[in-house]
Amino acid sequence: MTTLREVIEVPRPVEHCFRYVADFRTTVEWDATAIRATKTTPGPITVGTAFAVRCKAGPTSLALDYVVTAMTPFHSIELKGVGRFFTVRDTITFEALASGLTRITYVAEFEYHLGLGALAKNAETGLKKMGRASLKGLARALEDNNPAPKASLDTQKKDSSLATALSCFTRYGYRRGRRCWHPLSTDMEGKHVVLTGANAGLGFATAVALLEAGAKLTVVIRDPKKLESMQHALEAETGRAADNVELADLSLLSEVNALSERLIKRGEPIDVLINNAGALFNEHAETPERIERSVALLLLSPWRLTERLMPLIEHHDTPARVINVVSGGMYTQKLRRNQLIMSANGYNGSIAYARSKRALTVLTELWADEWRSRNIVVNSMHPGWADTPGVQTALPGFRRVTKTVLRTPEEGADTIVWLARAKEADQATGLLFLDREPRTTHLKPKTAETDEERTQLRPWLQETYDNLQLDSSA
Ligand SMILES: NC(=O)c1ccc[n+]([C@@H]2O[C@H](COP(=O)([O-])OP(=O)(O)OC[C@H]3O[C@@H](n4cnc5c(N)ncnc54)[C@H](OP(=O)(O)O)[C@@H]3O)[C@@H](O)[C@H]2O)c1
Repeated sequence: MTTLREVIEVPRPVEHCFRYVADFRTTVEWDATAIRATKTTPGPITVGTAFAVRCKAGPTSLALDYVVTAMTPFHSIELKGVGRFFTVRDTITFEALASGLTRITYVAEFEYHLGLGALAKNAETGLKKMGRASLKGLARALEDNNPAPKASLDTQKKDSSLATALSCFTRYGYRRGRRCWHPLSTDMEGKHVVLTGANAGLGFATAVALLEAGAKLTVVIRDPKKLESMQHALEAETGRAADNVELADLSLLSEVNALSERLIKRGEPIDVLINNAGALFNEHAETPERIERSVALLLLSPWRLTERLMPLIEHHDTPARVINVVSGGMYTQKLRRNQLIMSANGYNGSIAYARSKRALTVLTELWADEWRSRNIVVNSMHPGWADTPGVQTALPGFRRVTKTVLRTPEEGADTIVWLARAKEADQATGLLFLDREPRTTHLKPKTAETDEERTQLRPWLQETYDNLQLDSSA
């Protein structure tokens, strides 16, 4: 048997350290050998939760199946990992010190399988070195001191051609992108997030990740029939349901108004607003407020909601964050105000969708400029191509062709979560992100909007809103 024992002290509350380490998926962010780690059992992390971890082993790699064997929240966690050649028992204890630091003691006991005991002596030095490197990695991850977001040279090169930029939208783009990521250990305890469209697709994956990170979550959904199943699913996955659920059909500006009034009345400051709800409508239709529904849901709604919620967003010592979920489809369109509302004649759902997403990307930049001095950062992100209910219903042909390269909803939502959570993400504003990196907003020069279109966008939104036939009883 080989026993490793390492101790680190880190400037983080004991609860944060425990939450981060207990989720063993984070090993890829700090363990010197882990290259992949997934949670293989559903539900919150507790005794019995299993993780599949793949580790580098010389020129090859080996699989370890971990299971949590004991857990005392904020104090200790024990895991057993079984691999082909050995079994390892990890005991990790957490202790709050009077200095304010947290001491983490990590003991790993390796037992070699039959006939391999002789290897133990040779392996011991290497294992000890690896244990020290891993705990240094854990200390670095928990320091949470990552550099400000910036596009790597490789990303800038990819964004210079349409084909390479599109390749980044796939699950392979996600996998390539994540190789350069920094650890994400920021805890969201005490942060209030408002998230629209949380019951499905990217929104649901975002809600799960934010609850796991400790955030206080207000979700906005439109269908009361989906409320109970969403709350059950969130609870089953994370052990917690959303703290507050608001019902609103966000394609109706009267409901956006009523929603913002309810939130303002409740008076809870918002640390992060995520404008995620969206849909691609293949058929032309107007809402009862007499406006084409794509522009209502995808542009007017996030504009109105964000501006109305400003009294709750603007209040902070640390920057509040607004995150707008746009789409790579917007790369095909140029902002022209007179084309944002498409008529039935010549309507194309993908174009209507892309035009509104382009306008929301420009609006993100305008807000960022204006709100810089008010301690609010505003960024947009696009998720690449992710296999969600939205894609399944609106783009079945596209899905058939691209099925093998689509991202999971969790992969598509990753950058939303990162923008909401990562400490360093508040050092960026007015940018468009994919896979935690700022990306170009134009793949072709001909989609660049004029200065006049930019400066007139917000007056146009106000004027369009003023002309709606709102139901004042909503
Ligand atoms: N998936 C992708 O590849 C992809 C690519 C680019 C951009 N996006 C963007 O990502 C966001 C999430 O999309 P998704 O793929 O996750 O789609 P999804 O699976 O259809 O989820 C969309 C969410 O928005 C909600 N929603 C739709 N219309 C609404 C309305 N009128 N009022 C309130 N909520 C409404 C939906 O509620 P219901 O369940 O009640 O309909 C659902 O919760 C959207 O903004 C979308 O444009 C997605």
